[in-house]
Amino acid sequence: MASFSFILLLVLLHVVMLFNVGDSGEMVSMEDGELLGLFEVMGSLLDDPTWAQMHPQPCTETPWPGVQCELMVQEDGQQDYSPTIFHVTKIHIGNDILTPPCKPNATLSSKGLMKLPYLKTLSLFNCFNVTPVSLTSSLFENSSLSSLEHLALVSNPGLHGTIPSSLGYLQSLRVLSLSQNMLSGEIPQEICGLVNLQQLDLSYNHLTGSIPQEIGKMKSLTIFDLSYNMLGGQLPSSFGQLQSLQKIDLGSNELGGRVPQEVGNMSRLVLFDLSHNFLIGPLPESLSGLKQLEYLVIQDNPINTCMPLFIGSLGRLKVLSFSRCGLMGPILTCLSILKNLTALSLDNNSLNGTVPSYIGSLPNLQQLNLSQNQLSGELLVTQEFINRIGMRLDIRGNNGLCIKNITSSEVKDPISCVSSTSGSVGNKSSWGDQEDECGNMSSNLYQSNWSPKTHHGYEFRLGFYKMFRVMIFMVLCIEF
Ligand SMILES: *[C@@H]1O[C@H](CO)[C@@H](O)[C@H](O)[C@H]1NC(C)=O
Ligand SMILES: *[C@@H]1O[C@H](CO)[C@@H](O)[C@H](O)[C@H]1NC(C)=O
Ligand SMILES: *[C@@H]1O[C@H](CO)[C@@H](O)[C@H](O)[C@H]1NC(C)=O
Ligand SMILES: *[C@@H]1O[C@H](CO)[C@@H](O)[C@H](O)[C@H]1NC(C)=O
Ligand SMILES: *[C@@H]1O[C@H](CO)[C@@H](O)[C@H](O)[C@H]1NC(C)=O
Ligand SMILES: *[C@@H]1O[C@H](CO)[C@@H](O)[C@H](O)[C@H]1NC(C)=O
Ligand SMILES: *[C@@H]1O[C@H](CO)[C@@H](O)[C@H](O)[C@H]1NC(C)=O
Ligand SMILES: *[C@@H]1O[C@H](CO)[C@@H](O)[C@H](O)[C@H]1NC(C)=O
Ligand SMILES: *[C@@H]1O[C@H](CO)[C@@H](O)[C@H](O)[C@H]1NC(C)=O
Ligand SMILES: *[C@@H]1O[C@H](CO)[C@@H](O)[C@H](O)[C@H]1NC(C)=O
Repeated sequence: MASFSFILLLVLLHVVMLFNVGDSGEMVSMEDGELLGLFEVMGSLLDDPTWAQMHPQPCTETPWPGVQCELMVQEDGQQDYSPTIFHVTKIHIGNDILTPPCKPNATLSSKGLMKLPYLKTLSLFNCFNVTPVSLTSSLFENSSLSSLEHLALVSNPGLHGTIPSSLGYLQSLRVLSLSQNMLSGEIPQEICGLVNLQQLDLSYNHLTGSIPQEIGKMKSLTIFDLSYNMLGGQLPSSFGQLQSLQKIDLGSNELGGRVPQEVGNMSRLVLFDLSHNFLIGPLPESLSGLKQLEYLVIQDNPINTCMPLFIGSLGRLKVLSFSRCGLMGPILTCLSILKNLTALSLDNNSLNGTVPSYIGSLPNLQQLNLSQNQLSGELLVTQEFINRIGMRLDIRGNNGLCIKNITSSEVKDPISCVSSTSGSVGNKSSWGDQEDECGNMSSNLYQSNWSPKTHHGYEFRLGFYKMFRVMIFMVLCIEF
């Protein structure tokens, strides 16, 4: 019993000694090779020649805010040595207060990075400006950086070249953001093998080619952003397999063809942005399955159909934009359930007929753009509605659509309805039932008395959208 206690005491002493030795700096608390790798990486990024001298023990004694380490159990089993050791797990340099910016001629030290096999997070914002930097394929080969969970190289005008297919080896990756760089070439399909990836953001680059059909394999994806590239081809039908997706932004590309009906399977989708592409109609009615959808932005595609009926099933919609989509026929009469709608943009289409009366009873509408259509008749509005919407109501460029006794300071270039006998104004007699251009009768008799239409401006959408983007990102980051 006594001898057992003695041994226990010895073991405890040994542990205490190890920590003391580590603290005093005589015995390094991390491996030499890894430390060297960190010095190389930081040297290539920062304009601070004394970095290595100032931070000889970046994991313990002399930490640096952008570098994080974790204490891990040593894997090689040399138990007479320290059973635990520090490894560099995070390098972050960004436009924040804690970390100074990268030097103007910063580069990425592949050699250094490959010596950091425990790195989980590498995030470099606004780093490579002057010196051209590219992602070499070897950087991710042979299980170097295979612990990476979060790779964000964002807003680097000097980062060019292609996306290496070897990124597909980073099987632990959960967040991959290469947004706002100068990357070109195609999206390597190997990326689709990253089955743990939750966020993929390749927006604002010069990517070409089409979206790989294999994306259906990335079952963990919640955010998928390829906006502002030059991607062509069609939307892959395999999107339908991505049941966790909450946000898809494919805006400002060169996508064509029809939206596949499998897209309606993405039941968690909150934001769907297809704006500024070459997608043709009709949009599949299966989109009525997107019950969580709050932002639907189709703006600027040659859809060229009547307003799709599925919109009436999307009760959570906040922002709906069909600007410049070649829509024809009447405005749907069944959208009165969209109580949460704040912005409705139907401008620059060929919509005709009168404006259904429900629009003025949409209680949260802040933006309504009906301009540049062939709408006629009178838009009935309350003073409360006008107060709420003000200059964000736009009915210019229609076929006599007018608002009764409105004063010019309240809305954009209003057309005041004059005496109903005037031939140049809206036709109030067409106010009841009307045959839509798709050959069906639509009734607005059940609707309320008000009849203003809604639409929102682009800036407004962007505001909401950016907010949402940040929100989702934050939520996921916190979770991460
Ligand atoms: C980068 O710029 C610094 C001055 O800011 C200079 O001392 C250094 O030699 C430059 N390095 C390279 C690789 O051009
Ligand atoms: C990866 O391994 C292959 C074969 O083992 C080798 O030829 C190649 O040079 C290695 N790449 C790197 C970056 O070490
Ligand atoms: C996906 O959508 C297609 C067509 O809309 C449907 O046939 C299929 O059953 C759906 N798959 C799942 C998994 O919901
Ligand atoms: C409308 O928004 C409110 C508040 O965000 C939410 O609680 C409600 O569920 C939404 N209504 C619908 C039909 O989604
Ligand atoms: C309406 O759309 C056409 C192309 O469809 C475009 O040329 C025109 O500039 C747009 N008008 C407005 C006012 O935006
Ligand atoms: C709307 O335009 C279509 C032709 O595009 C026409 O057939 C239809 O009668 C028009 N409807 C109204 C109410 O003017
Ligand atoms: C329109 O004019 C009538 C009578 O002049 C007035 O009672 C009503 O409040 C006005 N409506 C609006 C929206 O200003
Ligand atoms: C009003 O509509 C009726 C029938 O729908 C039509 O005969 C008449 O010409 C229209 N008046 C105007 C001013 O458009
Ligand atoms: C009219 O609506 C009915 C049911 O609402 C639908 O079955 C029919 O296909 C529609 N007709 C046209 C031409 O869209
Ligand atoms: C409404 O849409 C038109 C045409 O697309 C655009 O020129 C105008 O600026 C928009 N109005 C508002 C208030 O956003």
